[in-house]
Amino acid sequence: MDKISGFSDDELLVKILSFLPTKEAVTTSILSKQWKFLWMRVPKLEYDEMSIYSRQFYFRYLFSEEMGESETYSIASERFQRMQCFIEKNLPLHSSPVMESLRLKFHNALFQPEDIKLWVDIVVSRCVQELSVDFNPFKEKPNALLPSSLYTCKSLVTLKLRNNILVDVPHVFSLPSLKTLQLERVTYADGESFQRLLSNCSVLEALLVELCTCDNVRKFAVIIPSLLSLSFEISAGHCAAEGYRIDTPSLKYFKLTDLSKSFSGLIENMPKLNEADIIAGHNIKKLLEFCTSVKRLSLLTLVDDAEALTAVYGDDIVFDQLEHLNFRIYGAYWSKLLYWLLIASPKLRNLEFNEIFSRDGAVDTLVRWNQLSSVPQCLLSSLQTFKWSGYNVSVQGKYLATYILGNSCQLKIATISIGQGLDPQKKLKIETNVKCRFRGSPTCKLVFY
Ligand SMILES: *[C@@H]1O[C@H](CO)[C@@H](O)[C@H](O)[C@H]1NC(C)=O
Ligand SMILES: *[C@@H]1O[C@H](CO)[C@@H](O)[C@H](O)[C@H]1NC(C)=O
Repeated sequence: MDKISGFSDDELLVKILSFLPTKEAVTTSILSKQWKFLWMRVPKLEYDEMSIYSRQFYFRYLFSEEMGESETYSIASERFQRMQCFIEKNLPLHSSPVMESLRLKFHNALFQPEDIKLWVDIVVSRCVQELSVDFNPFKEKPNALLPSSLYTCKSLVTLKLRNNILVDVPHVFSLPSLKTLQLERVTYADGESFQRLLSNCSVLEALLVELCTCDNVRKFAVIIPSLLSLSFEISAGHCAAEGYRIDTPSLKYFKLTDLSKSFSGLIENMPKLNEADIIAGHNIKKLLEFCTSVKRLSLLTLVDDAEALTAVYGDDIVFDQLEHLNFRIYGAYWSKLLYWLLIASPKLRNLEFNEIFSRDGAVDTLVRWNQLSSVPQCLLSSLQTFKWSGYNVSVQGKYLATYILGNSCQLKIATISIGQGLDPQKKLKIETNVKCRFRGSPTCKLVFY
């Protein structure tokens, strides 16, 4: 209560308005004279084109020209232009002393990318702290260029750029407060822009980068001592496959999607890594080697090839800290990889097994769960929870579940949520079957949902 009484009436109203979406905050301006300009002091602004149409209407608008729906096209275009005029007219009048955030999200082909430059320039002059721009026009358009003032913005803490944005980093720039940077499928003005940007963000804590197949980033080096969280995606056909290097001594969380055919990364110096989320193709073994110290590991292999997945099998890697494993499968040949992970993780407490897409493969390439001679240590001494989920379940998946339930002596709870894609009879049959199997831990609770 005391905190509130310290505010003047107007300040309090502005505070309240800042919790509303911009569209609604603006609507309040018609309430009374006092309210008319209040919204212009709200420090957070968000303009999302989707908010001016219903979803259904938007999709009709997308295809309206091709479908000859000229009325839909002109109604929607008019609405969009009104929004654009509104921003043009009001953003320069905005009077909050510090702009906490500006978020822009546009798809419209009528949109002039130069406007983004203008608007960003305005908020940079208002000491913006968070800027997020997503420009993804549904027709061919030039990329939106950002003003050079952005690259010397002292107040900027968070910068998120997506899609058709041209990132052109000056040779000398300074973003001394930047802690969070996200660059998703953007375009870089030259081969060096990207690397230049990363080379001088001295307090950066979180970085998310998604390169796209067609961009000009050849070299990717993240050498940032302050970085705590890194998400990096490199697609199968990307040219930066020439190599990447990651050296981040403070990193705690690492998400890596690397579907390139041959591994060309150099990942080193992550002594504090606690959690890794790996989406891998052929180079899975290489990717697993650097996360042997994690407590949490989430793994999805998007390669359905018995040979590639068996290549990891061996006793040279141990996950001696691993407590949580989320193993998501795609395809048929996952079982040797999982068995190997269970053997290599003596302290595992929680296992999640998710059949995102599964099918059954040739028997000689799979683990015969019912004929294994030795039980992984974690099942005997540490595994406490097991979650099995899948839209569709494979025969192998059933064998695995039976094996885990039958051999885990410390298991407290098993949660089973399978077969939403199966017919109810079949689903019930699998569940009944699981229920009456032998349980290694007689007190284990089975939960179906
Ligand atoms: C790097 O950033 C610092 C401080 O943010 C600045 O003083 C320096 O000029 C920048 N260097 C380059 C090469 O942009
Ligand atoms: C479900 O699994 C069966 C057998 O594994 C397979 O034949 C079928 O194609 C799968 N269906 C879907 C929708 O994944």
